[in-house]
Amino acid sequence: MRIVILGSGRGSNARAILEARRDGRLGDTEVVHLFADKPEAGILALGPEFGVPATFVDPAPFKTKLDGEGELRYIDAIAACQPDYVVLAGFMRVLKPGFLGAFAGRIINLHPSLLPSFPGLDGIGQAWRRGVKVTGCTVHFVTAEVDGGPIIDQAAVRIEPGDTLDTLTEKVHAAEHALLPAVIAWLSQAGG
Ligand code: GAR
Repeated sequence: MRIVILGSGRGSNARAILEARRDGRLGDTEVVHLFADKPEAGILALGPEFGVPATFVDPAPFKTKLDGEGELRYIDAIAACQPDYVVLAGFMRVLKPGFLGAFAGRIINLHPSLLPSFPGLDGIGQAWRRGVKVTGCTVHFVTAEVDGGPIIDQAAVRIEPGDTLDTLTEKVHAAEHALLPAVIAWLSQAGG
């Protein structure tokens, strides 16, 4: 099963996938390419470390969505990799119909809350401020509805009396680092 990973930020979830792959926990999954929409994204530094090509692809002209020329650049670059799945690991852009159609049913996203609660930006902060006692993370198929596609799997995180936003953030990230590789391993077992 061939996957590409897209990220914008620290790249800790891409690292978790690459470590799982290195340790033989992803079945026959091959990570064929890493892509970032920011030249400084942490995911790009993982390329040389894990021996995977890593490329900044210019997402212009828009700031928060992938559309127009930027969308075409992404479709071309990713299609050339012939992936079975496109994995969004902290890729902070809204995808539009052109991209969704090019990889229909093959895009999965990680979100830091128990969807359908707290979609959109800052899922951890939203849950914290709302005062819920259980939050977590979700991996789901991407559709045109932002954070609204079919859920593949979730992991719950309990908010304990001593927690702060910082400790909760750490716990959710730890849950993500286990969940996303586990979903990829499951997809690969299911035949890609
Ligand atoms: C993760 O917490 C992921 O759930 C979130 O971005 C973070 C990326 O961290 N994604 C979203 O909020 C998407 N709506 P990372 O760059 O360290 O993997």
